[in-house]
Amino acid sequence: MNQTVVILDFGGQYNQLIARRVRECGVYCEVLPYHTPVEKILEKKPIGIIFTGGPNSVYLENAPKCGREVFELGVPVLGICYGIQVMAYTLGGHVTSPDSREYGKTKTKYDTACPLFAGLPPEGITWMSHTDYVDQMPAGFVMTAQTESCPTAAMQNREKKLYGLQFHPEVLHTQNGTKMLHNFLYEICGAKGDWTMGDYAQNTIEAIRKKVGDGKVLLALSGGVDSSVAAALLAKAVGPQLTCIFVDHGLMRKDEGDEVEAAFAHQGMNFVRVDAKERFLGRLSGVSEPEKKRKIIGEEFIRVFEEEAKKIGRVDYLVQGTIYPDVIESGAGDAAVIKSHHNVGGLPDYVDFKEIIEPLRLLFKDEVRKLGQELGLAEYLVWRQPFPGPGLAIRVIGEITEEKLDILRDADAIFRQEIAQAHLDRDIHQYFAVLTSMRSVGVMGDSRTYDYTLALRGVTTTDFMTADWARIPYEVLEKVSNRIINEVRGINRIVYDITSKPPATIEWE
Ligand code: XMP
Repeated sequence: MNQTVVILDFGGQYNQLIARRVRECGVYCEVLPYHTPVEKILEKKPIGIIFTGGPNSVYLENAPKCGREVFELGVPVLGICYGIQVMAYTLGGHVTSPDSREYGKTKTKYDTACPLFAGLPPEGITWMSHTDYVDQMPAGFVMTAQTESCPTAAMQNREKKLYGLQFHPEVLHTQNGTKMLHNFLYEICGAKGDWTMGDYAQNTIEAIRKKVGDGKVLLALSGGVDSSVAAALLAKAVGPQLTCIFVDHGLMRKDEGDEVEAAFAHQGMNFVRVDAKERFLGRLSGVSEPEKKRKIIGEEFIRVFEEEAKKIGRVDYLVQGTIYPDVIESGAGDAAVIKSHHNVGGLPDYVDFKEIIEPLRLLFKDEVRKLGQELGLAEYLVWRQPFPGPGLAIRVIGEITEEKLDILRDADAIFRQEIAQAHLDRDIHQYFAVLTSMRSVGVMGDSRTYDYTLALRGVTTTDFMTADWARIPYEVLEKVSNRIINEVRGINRIVYDITSKPPATIEWE
C-alpha cells in the first residue's frame, strides 16, 4: 500500500489542484469531504492531512467546520487558505473579517527556519485570495510568514506538526509553491515518494475490473487524447468485454482514421470502425452555416453510434473520457453558447446502460498524457493536439465538398510536418490550416490563377478558454507557405491569423 495523504475538501476551487500537486510530488492522495469522520480518515493510515481552501467565513452559521480530534492524531496537518482559518478557529485562535480583500500576487516574507520554507529565499511572491485572516493564533503557534496586510500569512505549531498557509501554494503564481508542498510532504510527513503514474494505472485498472465484473462496456473512440487513454485503460482492464466504436465521419485529418485503427484494432478489445463518410458528406452537402453544420454532425453521430451500439445488444457501462477541466467547465453555469461543442463522449441518453464510467475524471490534461505513456500508447496519440468533434467540417469555411476536404488535408499535413520539423510542436498548443471560401487572383508560371486562400492558425494557451496567437518564426512560415503553394493544388494565397481569443475563437467556425 502506498503512503497516503488525505485532502479534506472545504469547498475551495483549487482542491483538485492541490491533489494534483501532491501526486506531482510522488505521493498518493485522496480528496475526502471535510465532514469525513476521524475513524474513516484513520482507516487510510494517512501520513499527512491537508485542508483545502473554501469560500466561507468560519463565523458563518453553516460554514464547514471540523472537530479538534483531527489535530490530535499526531498526523501532520497543513491548512491552506480557509484551512488555516478553520485550524486557528478550532484550536482557540481568532479570525478577523477586515473590510478589504487581499487578492492576487503578493509580496511575502518567510521565516526560512520553518520546515515548510526550508531552502527558500526569505522573500517571494504568493497568490492570495481571501478576506478573513487569522489575527490571533491559537496557543502554541508562531507566525512564520507575513505580508503587508496579513500578519499571519503562515503559522506553525512545530511540536504538534500543525501548519497553516493563508496563500495558495498549489497555484503556480506562488513562487516555490510546489517546493513548499514538497517540504510538507517530505520534511514534515516523512513521505518517501512511493507513488507513480504506474500505480495510478494499476489501481484504476483493478477498480474498473471490480466494478465491471463480467458486464459489457461501450466506448465512443474519437482518436483524441482523452478517449484514447480511456480506451487503453479499459482495454487493459476488461479487454474482451469492451467495444470501442470509432465513427469515421470522413472529416478527420490526413491518415488519421487509419492511425486510430492501427493503434486500437488489435488490442484485445472489440474495435469497430464505422465508415460513415458518405452519410456525413451527404447530409452536409449544400450546407454552409457553421451552427447548422455542427448540429448535423452531432445528430448524425448519434444515429450512427446508436445503430452500432444496438448491434452489440445489452450494454452495462458507457465509458467517457471526461477529464477534470471538463468537470469544472460543465459546472460553470449557463454561460452563453458561443459554439455548440460536439463532444463525442457527451451523448449517452440514447443507449440503454446501467452506469457511466469516467476513469479520467480527476486528472488534468498533462496527467492524462502521462497515463497514456504509462499504458504504452503511441507518442503521436498521447501528444495529439485538441481536435474538434466536427473535424475538418468547421475548418472548411462554408460549403463542404470532398475536393475541398482533400485540399485542406494536404495543406494541413504540410503545416504540421513543418511545425514538428522546427521542434515547435510542444510549444504551440494548437495549430492547423483553414480553407477559406475566398478566392483571389494569382499568377503561377505564366498563367493567371483564381484559387482559394488558405489561413494558418497557431495558438498558445493554457486552458483553451483564452489564447494568444503563436509567434511562429518567419522562416518557418515561409517554408510552410512555399511548400503548400508548390505541393497542393487549388491554393494560391496563404495568410496567418494574428488574432487572439477573445475576440476571435480558436476555430474559425
Ligand atoms: P474555440 O474555437 O471555441 O475552441 O475557441 C476552443 C477549443 O475547443 C476545440 N473545439 C471543439 N472541441 N468539439 C470539441 O471537442 C467541438 O465541437 C469543438 N469546437 C472547438 C477547439 O479546437 C479548441 O481547442
